[in-house]
Amino acid sequence: MRYLTKSDFNKMEKIFRINLINSCTGYKSANLIGTKSKSGIENLAVFSSVTHLGSNPAVLGYILRPTTVPRNTYKNIKETGFFTVNHITESIIEDAHHTSAKYHEDISEFDKTKLISEYKDNWTAPYVKGSPVQIGCKYLNDYFIKENGTILVVASMETLYFNDELITEDGWLRLDKENVVTINGCDGYALPKLINRFEFQRPK
Ligand SMILES: Cc1cc2nc3c(=O)[nH]c(=O)nc-3n(C[C@H](O)[C@H](O)[C@H](O)COP(=O)(O)O)c2cc1C
Repeated sequence: MRYLTKSDFNKMEKIFRINLINSCTGYKSANLIGTKSKSGIENLAVFSSVTHLGSNPAVLGYILRPTTVPRNTYKNIKETGFFTVNHITESIIEDAHHTSAKYHEDISEFDKTKLISEYKDNWTAPYVKGSPVQIGCKYLNDYFIKENGTILVVASMETLYFNDELITEDGWLRLDKENVVTINGCDGYALPKLINRFEFQRPK
């Protein structure tokens, strides 16, 4: 096996290090976060750090990169308090990935891709039409992570839409039925395949 230490990381070429460190922690969630600015401009961007923080209350979070450059999603969330989380499926990975391009805040990624915004239930932030799992989120708080200048954004899950066929009797969403993808590193998209589910475990 290849063996590296922190001193090797420090000596690496930048892109090589980004790829290595981003992929070595494992597969990540693949989501598009939809927002709308106070002045009404829609924004859409891909994020691989959205994660469940708790079920009761239903809370999720995502990690925002350092705000040393404009971060439109974050700005819109702070301005309006609302955003949506939309799962990425196999058929939209190219467009989803393109939303990571640094567009000016006046330009909507919905206009630069084939992705279509969808409004429902008076939710002010746009959902991504056709995404099989869509979550309407309300900003709660953010936490600056001083060790590397990132920010943990925490939000409550206020609405949840999912395609009927995904849910099982016990409430579990079987994401592979809709070809929901996962992210490997910062530019690899993969399709997970369910192996099995297991019962709640107790000590033997
Ligand atoms: C696969 C992938 C995953 C990403 N995940 C994150 C993430 O978790 N957090 C983050 O701040 N940026 C992430 N980005 C970068 C944003 O998509 C990128 O900065 C985008 O321009 C943000 O758009 P905005 O300024 O409109 O918010 C990711 C990019 C890619 C390609």
